[in-house]
Amino acid sequence: VDITVQASGGNKTSRIPYGLMHEDINNAGDGGIYAELIRNRAFQGSSRYPVSLAGWSSINGAALSVKKLAEPLSSALPSSLNVAVGNSAKNGSAGSVIGFKNDGFWGIDVRVQNYTGSFYVRGSYNGTFTASLSSALTNETFGSVSIQSKSKKDEWVQHEFTLVPETAAANSNNSFALQFDSKGVEGGSLDFNVISLFPPTYKGRKNGLRLDIAEAFEALNPKFLRFPGGNALEGPDLANPWKWDETIGELKNRPGRPGVWGYQTSDGLGLVEYLHWCDDMKLEPILAVWSGLALDGAYINESSLQPWIDDALAEIEFIRGASSTPYGSLRASLGYPEPWKLQYVEIGNEDWLAGAPAGYDSYRQYRFPLFKEAIEQKYPDIQIIASPSVFDNMTIPSPAAGDYHPYRQPNDYYAEFAKFDKLTPDNLTLVGEFAAVHPNGGLDWDAGLHPFPWWIGGVGEAIFMIATERAGDRIIGSTYAPILRNMNRWQWSVCMLEFDASKTTLSTSYHVFKLISTHPITSNLPTTPSTNTSSLFFVAGRNEDTGTHIFKAANYNTTQHEDTPVKVGFEGVEEGRKAQLTLLTGSEGPFGYNDPKTGNNAVKETIDVLVANEEGVFEWVMPELSVAVLEVSGN
Ligand code: AHR
Repeated sequence: VDITVQASGGNKTSRIPYGLMHEDINNAGDGGIYAELIRNRAFQGSSRYPVSLAGWSSINGAALSVKKLAEPLSSALPSSLNVAVGNSAKNGSAGSVIGFKNDGFWGIDVRVQNYTGSFYVRGSYNGTFTASLSSALTNETFGSVSIQSKSKKDEWVQHEFTLVPETAAANSNNSFALQFDSKGVEGGSLDFNVISLFPPTYKGRKNGLRLDIAEAFEALNPKFLRFPGGNALEGPDLANPWKWDETIGELKNRPGRPGVWGYQTSDGLGLVEYLHWCDDMKLEPILAVWSGLALDGAYINESSLQPWIDDALAEIEFIRGASSTPYGSLRASLGYPEPWKLQYVEIGNEDWLAGAPAGYDSYRQYRFPLFKEAIEQKYPDIQIIASPSVFDNMTIPSPAAGDYHPYRQPNDYYAEFAKFDKLTPDNLTLVGEFAAVHPNGGLDWDAGLHPFPWWIGGVGEAIFMIATERAGDRIIGSTYAPILRNMNRWQWSVCMLEFDASKTTLSTSYHVFKLISTHPITSNLPTTPSTNTSSLFFVAGRNEDTGTHIFKAANYNTTQHEDTPVKVGFEGVEEGRKAQLTLLTGSEGPFGYNDPKTGNNAVKETIDVLVANEEGVFEWVMPELSVAVLEVSGN
C-alpha cells in the first residue's frame, strides 16, 4: 500500500482523545483501584445485600457478631462488630489474647512497606491492641504493631497505627488481625467499626488509589475520567442511584450502597477521591449525573424530576462553585476551599437501554431536556453530553454532545470504519465505552463475553480508535470499558486490566490502547488514498507540541491472511529523516490473550528506527493482524 500524507489541510483533533471510565464492577473500586485492604470494613448493608461478617473470622474463641447499637458510630453506619470475650477465650489454653482477622479482598499483598491503619472502638479496655499481617496458610507473622488503648466505655474512639512488616509474604494468601488481651476488657465485649488498612497509595493520597493499577493507567497517557459509571450510576432501583453526597466526607459518614453488579459497595472511592484521581493524573473529569432512570427500568415522572435536577446542580456546585456558595462551602468545610474544574457533564448512562421504550421516551421527551436546560442556564460553559448518541435514534441539539458505546465483534469495527464520516460538526460525540466483547460469528449477549481481551479483538479496537481519530474534530474522546476486573469477581470478563490482591495483568487490549494513545495527533493530515484499503486502516497527522509527524495503522487481513507491505511518504519530509516504528503483533495467533494465571504475554512489540528513502518514503511490512505507529522526528 502506497500512502502519501499531505503537508496541510486536515482538522484539529480533540485534546482529550483517550481517557478512562470507572465504575465499581468486578470489584474495580472496592478491592480494586481503591487501595483499602480490608473487606467489609464497616459492616455496611442494604435491602439487597444484608449486613454480614463476610471477610471476618474469630481468633482464639472470641465471639463475633454484627450488632446495631443504640449509639452507633454514625447514622450512616448503624452496624458494627461486637467482639465478646466469652469463657472459652478467657480460660482457653491458648491464653487470654483474643481478636479477629480479615482475609482482605481474596488475600492481602504484604511487602516491607508502611501500612497505614485505623479502627474505631467502643467499650472499656485497659491494655494494648496488636495489629498484624500474617500468612493465612502457615500463620507466619510478617509484622505487627502494638497500639495503646485509648478506648472509653461509652464513646467511639479512633485509633491509628502504622504497621511495617519485617518480611514480605511469598504470596497474597494473608490476613490482617487485630488482637487484645481479654483480661483488660470491662463489660465482656468491645465494639469495632471502620477497621481500615492501606498500603502506600498512588501519589501518597490518604484514602487513595492502589499504586500498581494507577500507574498502569497513568502509562496510558489518559486525558479524561468518566465516572461514576456505567450502570453503577443508575443504581438497581429508583431508591438507590449513586448519591454523590453520601460519598463525601469522613469514611464514618458514608453509608455505602447496593451496587448493581452483585455486591454492596463502600463508597470509600467517592466523589472527592474521583476528583483527586483526576488531579493526580491530570485528567478532565467527565461527571455523569443521575438522570432519573434505574437499571430495573423504572424512571422518574416529569412532575417528580425537579429535586433530582436540583441535586445535579448541587453536585456541580459542590465541585466547581465558589466556597461562598452553599455547596461550595460544604466542599470547603471538608478541606477543599479551591473549586475543581468541571467542563463536561453527562446526563445519565445509556438511557436508551433500561426501561426502553417508555424509559427512553421519557429521556427524549423531558428528562434530558429538563436537566440540560437547568445545567446550561447556570453553567453555560459546561459541555453537556447526552447518554445516547446520534447513532441511538436520538436527536441531540447542538452544542450538546452524545455518548456512543460500541461493544462489538472485531469484524464490526472493520465494517463500521466509515461510521463517523456521518457526524457533522454539530454531532459532537464521546465514546464513553467501547471494547471488542465477542468473537466474530454473532453478537450474542446470552452466549457470554469472551473470557479475556484477545489479540484479534485488540486489532479490531485499533481500527475503531483510528476511526475516532480520523473524526478527531467531532469525537471528544474515547475510552475502553470496563477497565478493571478482580480475577475473583467475574461479572464482565473482557476488561483492560485483570488483577488479584498482588498482581496486575495488562491485557492485549491494554497494549493496543497504550500504543495508540501515547502518540497523540493534534492535527490530522489528508492522505492519498484518503481512506482504508481492503485491510489497512490508517490515520495520519502532526503533533504540533512535539513537531513530529505520526502515522497509525491497523492491518486486519483476515480473508487473505497475508502480510501487507506499506510505504508512507510525508510531503515535506526529505530523504534521511528518521522515524520510530513500533509494531505490535500477536505472538499466539488471533485468539491469544494475556493470561493472569500463567503470566503469558500474547503481544509482541518490535521497535525499529526507519530512515526515509530518496523519495522521503518509509517502508515496512504489516503482518496480517498487526498494529503500528510510525512517529517521524521533527528534524
Ligand atoms: O461497561 C459495562 C457496562 O456496559 C456499563 O456499566 C454500561 O454502561 C454498559 O452497558
